[in-house]
Amino acid sequence: MKLMSAHIEDLKSLYIQNLQKALDMEQKITSSLPDLIEASSDPELKNAFSTHLQETRGHVVKVESLLRQHTGEAESETCKVINGLSTEASDTIKDVTDPSVRDIALIGAGQQVEHHEIAVYGTLRSWAAILGLSNDALVLKSIEEEELNADEILTSIADTVNLQSGVPVGAY
Ligand SMILES: [Fe+2]
Ligand SMILES: [Fe+2]
Repeated sequence: MKLMSAHIEDLKSLYIQNLQKALDMEQKITSSLPDLIEASSDPELKNAFSTHLQETRGHVVKVESLLRQHTGEAESETCKVINGLSTEASDTIKDVTDPSVRDIALIGAGQQVEHHEIAVYGTLRSWAAILGLSNDALVLKSIEEEELNADEILTSIADTVNLQSGVPVGAY
């Protein structure tokens, strides 16, 4: 619960506040992806998380640069959703002992994060378009495309890992 109201009076302020939340989200994902890489046993999965960590570092830089253009600084605001998703992911790492099942659980945790990011950037991109911020919309679209790609890669790895763990493809 918030103690103080942010007094959002227009779409531009709402947009900036949500960019600040996106920055916090990306910073937290940058911190938590190394744990997912470490906990993955499938080499393809490890590689996919590592590649996306590099992309995520780029997302931090891009969102920071948008914020600097609008406010002169790259301040973040707490994204409460990513806190919950990160807790779920770290619980999974602790709770699941079988390596193949843990890989499946990590893919699930990773995809929940990607789906949230896709929703965040889809919304921000549409607000940028309404506000006439065409450069912002392009930058946000480039981030969204990397999130969509990461999600697709995780889906394709899930098919292989499911076979290895004896779970029929498409069983969940
Ligand atoms: Fe991202
Ligand atoms: Fe992502």
